[in-house]
Amino acid sequence: MNVESQKGLKPGEARAPGPSTKDIILQDTNKAPDALVTENFTYNAREDIAYERYYDPAFFQKEVEQLWSKVWQWACRLEHIPEVGDNYVYDVGPYSILIVRHGEGPEDIKAYHNSCLHRGTQLKPSDSQSHSAKLRCPFHGWEWNLDGTVSEIPCRWDFPKVTDEEFKLPEVKVGFWGGFVFINMDPDSISLEEHLEVLPDHFSQFFPLDRRYIEVHLRRELPCNWKAAAEAFIEAYHVRETHNGADPVGNGCTNAQYDVFGDNVTRFVHTIGYPSPNWPNETAEDIANSMEERIKAAQANRETLGEKYDLDLSGYSDSEMLDSIEYFCFPNMFLFPGITLPMIYRFRPNGMDPDSSLFDLLFLRPLKEGEEHPEPPEVVRLGPEEVYATVPNMDPGLAIVYEQDTSNLEAQQRGFKAGAKRVQTLANYQESRVRQVHITLDKYVKD
Ligand code: FES
Ligand SMILES: [Fe+2]
Repeated sequence: MNVESQKGLKPGEARAPGPSTKDIILQDTNKAPDALVTENFTYNAREDIAYERYYDPAFFQKEVEQLWSKVWQWACRLEHIPEVGDNYVYDVGPYSILIVRHGEGPEDIKAYHNSCLHRGTQLKPSDSQSHSAKLRCPFHGWEWNLDGTVSEIPCRWDFPKVTDEEFKLPEVKVGFWGGFVFINMDPDSISLEEHLEVLPDHFSQFFPLDRRYIEVHLRRELPCNWKAAAEAFIEAYHVRETHNGADPVGNGCTNAQYDVFGDNVTRFVHTIGYPSPNWPNETAEDIANSMEERIKAAQANRETLGEKYDLDLSGYSDSEMLDSIEYFCFPNMFLFPGITLPMIYRFRPNGMDPDSSLFDLLFLRPLKEGEEHPEPPEVVRLGPEEVYATVPNMDPGLAIVYEQDTSNLEAQQRGFKAGAKRVQTLANYQESRVRQVHITLDKYVKD
């Protein structure tokens, strides 16, 4: 008999002792948005997850063909391509997508497969950003207008088969939300709106995503499968071990709240400034004082950041001023709606290597009233030996946290292949979001 059924609980009903995240947030000063005190959890039973899914080349190939070429995924921000002629290349697995602003309207943006219709050369380099009035192939100079129509084919007399109609650049679907540009290579996919599930409703209750600018953007190659990388950031169960000692003010990891809103969107809310029921370093007195301390810390952040961003933050909840509130939208987008912790993460396959992934980390800070988006900072590409603390504007405390977060990944990827036990054993509640990744993945990837 397992522990839950001994206590008369159904699977997924057990919770850490002590106050829940919702109990804490309801005691905060300033009412939190309804989205933040909503709970949405039903135990999502699934068979144990085979390690093979993280390294088997055949499974990876299926993900490439059946998932990444069929799903909505965020590619860039609108401020990456503000001027007509700006372009941005988003690579995922073997695919390369060229996103181009062709007009001045807010959504005059098209996306193309980044491959010349002559002999295949990429029109723009992988993972690049540039500006050009035409899209010209560097090999023989075939050239297209920004709207994808043919501009010039050198020695056209030698290509009687080429018609303007048939040699338009093939388009990839684009969608927009919250200042992000999304792409989908499948012309028959569901709409972006449907894919985003509760996100537009929830984020209408937080500081608007499109009124934020990119303060920091780094990219790092991680020595593990894209799912292992994403899943290391999707639960707070690892906090006590991986980040032990990193947070002196208390850290509500064990009583974090987990929500599964649909196939694609899940969330955790992990309080800061109020100790976890089993955090080992807190005394009873610390716990008794912690609510008061949490409220004070939130107020201090309101004042400091309000001054820094020239904004009135007096109405924002303590939770938005402190907590680690993390939404995930399958398959590649992590969003933090908070003011103090406003991160965006993206994890994606790195070429055709199942053992490697790309991690993008951005901080999206609030714009001042009426302020235009500044030019985004250049992406800092961190080599394997370089530390997060070297990235300009990186918070030193968070730099340590990211070192810790990514320090286990190579060992996990190796351990996937080394085990006698071939499946992972997931917590019913705290690792429900990991299970949801695989439940949704199974809807795309079929045998
Ligand atoms: S491959 Fe592009 S012009 Fe020849
Ligand atoms: Fe972490």
